[in-house]
This record gives sequence, C-alpha cells and structure tokens, in this order.
Amino acid sequence: MHVDDLASPSILVLAPRLEHNLRAMQSACDAAGMELRPHIKTHKLLPIARRQLELGAKGLTCAKLSEAEAMLPSGVREIFLAHSLVDHRQAARIAALCDQLDELRVAVTSEAHAETLITLAAQVGRPLHAMMAIDSGLDREGVRDVASAQRIAARLARAPQVELAGFYTHEGQFYTKPNDQREAGIVRMLTDLRAIRDAIDPALPLWPGSSMTARAIADGHADGVQAVRPGAYVFGDMALSTSTDVMPFADVALEVLATVVDRPTADLALIDAGSKTFSSDRTAAGVSAVAADGRDLSVVRVNEEHGYLRGADVASLQLGERIRFVPAHVCTVVNLTSHVTLIDSDDYVSASWPVDARGCTQ
Ligand SMILES: Cc1ncc(COP(=O)(O)O)c(C=O)c1O
Repeated sequence: MHVDDLASPSILVLAPRLEHNLRAMQSACDAAGMELRPHIKTHKLLPIARRQLELGAKGLTCAKLSEAEAMLPSGVREIFLAHSLVDHRQAARIAALCDQLDELRVAVTSEAHAETLITLAAQVGRPLHAMMAIDSGLDREGVRDVASAQRIAARLARAPQVELAGFYTHEGQFYTKPNDQREAGIVRMLTDLRAIRDAIDPALPLWPGSSMTARAIADGHADGVQAVRPGAYVFGDMALSTSTDVMPFADVALEVLATVVDRPTADLALIDAGSKTFSSDRTAAGVSAVAADGRDLSVVRVNEEHGYLRGADVASLQLGERIRFVPAHVCTVVNLTSHVTLIDSDDYVSASWPVDARGCTQ
C-alpha cells in the first residue's frame, strides 16, 4: 500500500529517519561513554523500545507505572520511573515490577515526597532505589538547593527500605531558551548538578539529558554524567527543529497526513485534523503544525476535527489535496492515535503499529 491510499488523517512514521535518529543518539552516547536510558513517553511503542535496547540502550525511562508495565514485553531489564510515586494502591504493582526487572529505580522529588515514598516503600515490601530530582530551572519537581538535598539524603539514610541511587533533572526549560544560550546553560546546569551531588556523595551517578541537551552533553560535557534520558529525539517535532535548532527539519520522523476539506475564504483552508489529532500543544507563536514539504502552510488554530490553515501557499490549495505536517509537539500526537503507519523512503507502507502504551497515564 502507498501513502496515497491511507485514510486521512494518518500518523506517519518515516522508517529510515527513525532508524537514523535512534542510531545517532546511541552512537553519540556510546562515543561519550554514557548510558542511554530513553524516555518512552514520546513513542509508547514496543517495536521502538525493542530497537532502542537492541542498539544499546541500558534501560528505559517511563513516567507512569502503566507505561512501564506496557514496555515489559520489550525485554527491558532496567526501568526508571521518573515521576513522584505516592499512592499506596500502587504498592502491589510496584512490587510486581521490581520482581520482573533486574532494576527498578523510582524518583524522590522533594522533602515532602521523601516521607511519602518511605511509607510507600514499606508497603511495597522491596528495597527501592531512588534517584533524587533536582530542579534545574523548569520549576517543576526537584530540590531547589543543596540544604534540601542533604536533608533528603539524611532522611533516606535512616530509611532502610529506600536507598539513594543518584540524581536526575528534567531540563525542559531549554525548549524556550535561545539557541545561542543553550551551550552555556548546559555547562551551568551540569555545574549545579555536580555541586549538589558532590555535597552528598561524589560517587553517585548523574542522569540529566532531555532531547534538548542530550547530544550536546554527549558531544562535549559528558564528564561525570552516567546516563541521559531523551524522549522526543526519536521522531522530533517543531520544538526541536524549527523553534530551536537541535535537530535538522529533514530528520523529523513523524508526520501527520491530513486533507484539505474546505476553502471558506481565499486565505483560509480547513483540514480534517484538529486538536484530536495534533493535540492542543502549540509553539510559542501559536502554531500547531507546519507543512513538511516546506510550503508556507501553518495550522494556526484547531478545533476538535478542524485545523485552520494559513500561509502564502493556501491560495493554491485544492479541496481533497493531502498535505503532510510536522506537529509542534510530537509526544501528545502519538498519545492521541491508536496506531501509527510506518512508511519507507518511497512512501510505501511497511507496517502499522498499535500504540502499545497509548493512554497509559495511571
Ligand atoms: C522526567 C523526564 N525525563 C525525560 C524526559 C524526556 O524529555 P524530551 O522529550 O525533551 O527528550 C521528560 C520529558 O518530559 C521528562 O519529563
């Protein structure tokens, strides 16, 4: 089957680019002597998790328990659950994961959370290995200063059921930093992480590294970094390739195929993909997606099943014309679809993959 025969809208995965992105990140990590522990929240797909592990990923990172459970058939042996676990109702599921893996690491994300995690660990009935979250500027989870980190470390040292196993950060703030400030920001971030780590135990590992920073860390700042955990790099999106210059636009491996369904005015086209396809995530400029072929076509507004298309090239669009788009934020696009369609370099369909961890938010 050719891409032209697919129903619209469809989520396309460009297989050669996907393979390139997976290999490039793994090679960069290998060359730097760092482990790759990719976050699966972007793809939620067993075939991609399997390929990541086959190429050399040391383990996987997941946000939620159900994501980790969904990834078990990949053969993964080490999972880091990078989220604040608090729910005693999850104790049996956490214990089951511990039993099925060689290593399950959990997160400890604040002083308040440390107390809850210690209580939860007693209910799990297995020793838990905890990575301490450090807030490096996103202003989300994580300790804000050395003193707080030291208090958590001291508290865990008195809790036989939770062992401090290292430090991590999610540096999502880099998505909104200008390109020319990224390198200096990475150096500053790593200096701050090392200072907190060294104040507690210089032997403990550091696990920073999102898609915004992982390649730069690998290419010049890997000293003392044991692992990185990028997610979006597998596909890429506008956030990585147009809003910033982390990834070439030509490497973006996921596109949304959509169809022009109306031309209400000369400068507006409507497509059959809206927020139920692109999600409501947009760039800072308010764009949900742009044409993958370089035409001046931007989805500037979405309703559930309509995308509003503007740009100089709207004038030449015909009803029924199909356009391939690069979305603003790829992770939420994958979570909205039941399957993705793999296409080869000649646009022929090579597979249809169910999104194994779709909707796994629990
Ligand atoms: C804790 C954590 N680690 C890793 C990632 C991966 O980041 P990215 O998708 O920017 O590579 C995320 C993304 O939200 C995250 O929240």
